[in-house]
Amino acid sequence: MTALAESFLKELEAVTSTVDLRQLRSRYTGKNGVLTGELKKLPTLTPHERAAFGKQINDDKVFIEESIKEYEKQLVSKEIKTKLARDPVDITLPGCYKKPGGRHPVTIVLAEITDIFVSMGFGIEEGPEVESDYYNFEALNIPKNHPARDMQDTFYIETNCTGASAQSGEGAFVLRTHTSPVQIRVMKHSRPPLRFIAPGKVYRCDSDVSHSPMFHQVEGLVVDKNISFANLKGLLEGFLKKVFGPSVPVRLRPSFFPFTEPSAEVDMGCYFCKGNGCRVCKGTGWIEIMGAGMVDPRVFRNVGYDSDIYSGFAFGMGIERIASLKYGIDDIRLYYEGDLRFLRQF
Ligand code: PHE
Repeated sequence: MTALAESFLKELEAVTSTVDLRQLRSRYTGKNGVLTGELKKLPTLTPHERAAFGKQINDDKVFIEESIKEYEKQLVSKEIKTKLARDPVDITLPGCYKKPGGRHPVTIVLAEITDIFVSMGFGIEEGPEVESDYYNFEALNIPKNHPARDMQDTFYIETNCTGASAQSGEGAFVLRTHTSPVQIRVMKHSRPPLRFIAPGKVYRCDSDVSHSPMFHQVEGLVVDKNISFANLKGLLEGFLKKVFGPSVPVRLRPSFFPFTEPSAEVDMGCYFCKGNGCRVCKGTGWIEIMGAGMVDPRVFRNVGYDSDIYSGFAFGMGIERIASLKYGIDDIRLYYEGDLRFLRQF
């Protein structure tokens, strides 16, 4: 045995922990370790001496590494034994079960809605929640004095550094009040035919049992040649029957939106009283479920589409509203309180 190996063995005997062993290893085999130091002597030797010396260093290296590996095994098992003796673990104790998380009802319903439209060939688009006045209102033919622009309904974003709130108008930014601006954004950067939905959060300055300042909508837009109101009615009826069952009655009522003409409000037979009249449907037997209509030619003009060639329809629905009908939830605030007793039911 070489002197180097001998002095290594002596040091190894003194080691009592894996931490010390790691230090010893790096002192001998590390970049600036003893073995590297030995190698540096090589150039001072004659070629004949070099071969023998090199082999010897290599043998020492193998010896050192093997010894450390062997000793490490012993130390590790010794350390485990000591640790187990010090803090014993009773593996027969019952574990503490953590209930796995679940999906939020809004997420569940959104996934269901998305699946239905995807199965009908729709794509999915998204837009920003902080939206410019132009996309949220102007391009959708919502004129400057329209009540929907009233500060009461719209959250305006402060855009100048003095902190003064921006006025309703051209350069202003808002939290989008609906998902309809995504219609404009998509139409501006693509050509018909178009067929997509745009789900997402929307914001209105409103809060009570049936209104939350933030809620979710799914927008839909179809644009092509020869798209008719009958196509809209057929699609929405098919969709509602998939969500609420094949026997749910659906009706369209004339309505008004600045960006659709003609416009309709879509009602479905009240899920709770089956049309007999109850508190939820306010005795009418019907529940309003979404807004829809044929894309207004002015909107097409704003995005540079020729309304003599193309026609289309759009619709927008509230996801919480649909979830509430499906699950019989009568207070929209329940969705956002994070109460596990509520959330665990889904
Ligand atoms: N954006 C309308 C709303 O939020 C809904 C709608 C969308 C109506 C598309 C017609 C067409 O009330």
